[in-house]
Amino acid sequence: MTIFIAFFCLTVVLLLATAWTGKLAKRKIHLILVVCTVSGLSITIYYAVQLGLEYDLETAGTIFPVHMFLARLAAFSYIAPVISGIATIRNGRHRALHGKIAQVVIALTVTAAITGVWMIMAADKIAV
Ligand code: HEM
Repeated sequence: MTIFIAFFCLTVVLLLATAWTGKLAKRKIHLILVVCTVSGLSITIYYAVQLGLEYDLETAGTIFPVHMFLARLAAFSYIAPVISGIATIRNGRHRALHGKIAQVVIALTVTAAITGVWMIMAADKIAV
């Protein structure tokens, strides 16, 4: 649980730093942070799956499929800023759209996190 929370918090900080450096047009640091954010996200997903194995998630009720849908949507949504980011490098006109897409990705990540905590709190822990 502790390692999952640590990597989740690290990923959120990296995501916000990515958005901030994008806003400041610090392009090189922005791109390095994108790689760090996606790596942090991958590790967080790994630990989230491990954490889920300790719980009988079906017992959480409706929030289980709702969270699974939102978590998958949030993870796949990271493709959109990569595509719009490459488009922005090629043509600066796409910068505003890229910024809007980044906002949606951040909102989806936060929503997935909130529903994930909700789901774990509602689920029964598997006795070992
Ligand atoms: C998690 C992924 C990402 C987030 C959250 C993010 C966020 C942002 C934000 C908020 C901006 C400022 C937009 C505005 O002014 O409204 C920005 C700018 C930018 N981003 Fe990203 N971005 C991400 C990924 C990428 C990727 C993958 C690339 C390129 C491959 C990229 C390239 C750029 C470029 C070129 C700019 C414009 C900076 C400049 O004007 O020099 N971004 N980004």
